[in-house]
Amino acid sequence: MRPRVTLGRFLNRFGRFIQSLDIMVMRPQDLVEYTRQTYSRPKNVESWTRKDLIDSGLTQDEKILLENIPLKEGRLLLLGIGGGREAIPLAKRGFRVTGVDFVPDMVKKAKKNALKHGIEIKTLVQEISKLNVPASYYNIAWLSAAMYSSFPTRKKRVEMLRRIHSALNPEGYFLCEFHFNPKAGYNPEVEILRKIFAFLTFGNLMYEKGDMLLGNTEFIHSFPSEESLKSEFEEGGFKIIKFHLPEERIRGGAVLRKEFLSNG
Ligand SMILES: C[S@@+](CC[C@H](N)C(=O)[O-])C[C@H]1O[C@@H](n2cnc3c(N)ncnc32)[C@H](O)[C@@H]1O
Repeated sequence: MRPRVTLGRFLNRFGRFIQSLDIMVMRPQDLVEYTRQTYSRPKNVESWTRKDLIDSGLTQDEKILLENIPLKEGRLLLLGIGGGREAIPLAKRGFRVTGVDFVPDMVKKAKKNALKHGIEIKTLVQEISKLNVPASYYNIAWLSAAMYSSFPTRKKRVEMLRRIHSALNPEGYFLCEFHFNPKAGYNPEVEILRKIFAFLTFGNLMYEKGDMLLGNTEFIHSFPSEESLKSEFEEGGFKIIKFHLPEERIRGGAVLRKEFLSNG
């Protein structure tokens, strides 16, 4: 029996529990703001706009998603442009890219990086869940780097899907990536304690299992099943053309096609 080891272990677990309350005290819009503040830091702008990342181009997973749409050109709305890593190769393939980001410095650097490659892209400084662009204008919307998971609450994500739906023309496609972990385990007692804390602090009453602050830097929601994604996508007005869920990975992607929405 080593009481100090036991105490050490207890404090370690207690510390992790206390830290996990950060997400419970912030409401959904605070969580988006938390993420915005993180990405606005000069060192993060630097890291998402650096040359080696931009030159790395599309990932293998992104190429797989792209292969599953019949379009080779058209207007592409790139959500979360960062420094232009995807914008540049997509424009080189023939898409007319409009990039959206809520960090003005990212947008400026993406434009500059594109120009270095002899490419002009349009840009908008906007928060994606409040997307405000012309209706029926784009052929493709693109939200990669697992960013479909960046928006707290199912309600907000469906609202965002409907905005993307409206931005797309009737034959439009939406390609997205998300965090996905059907094997994640949860301790029911800890979950209850966290919810009580949210209640007592008038905090995040909309907390969903799978919500977390990844590396203490940004909000993500990790989806527990294909079904949870499917029902959101359908409610947002999209038909699933392909799910790309590589085994033993905690990220996945989907190719969605705009469907007729009777109430939208
Ligand atoms: C993970 S980085 C990905 C950048 C780029 N897509 C890439 O893969 O290289 C996420 C980018 O999206 C932006 N972003 C994150 N959440 C956003 C939101 N809610 N609205 C607008 N931009 C957002 C960040 O500022 C950042 O530039």
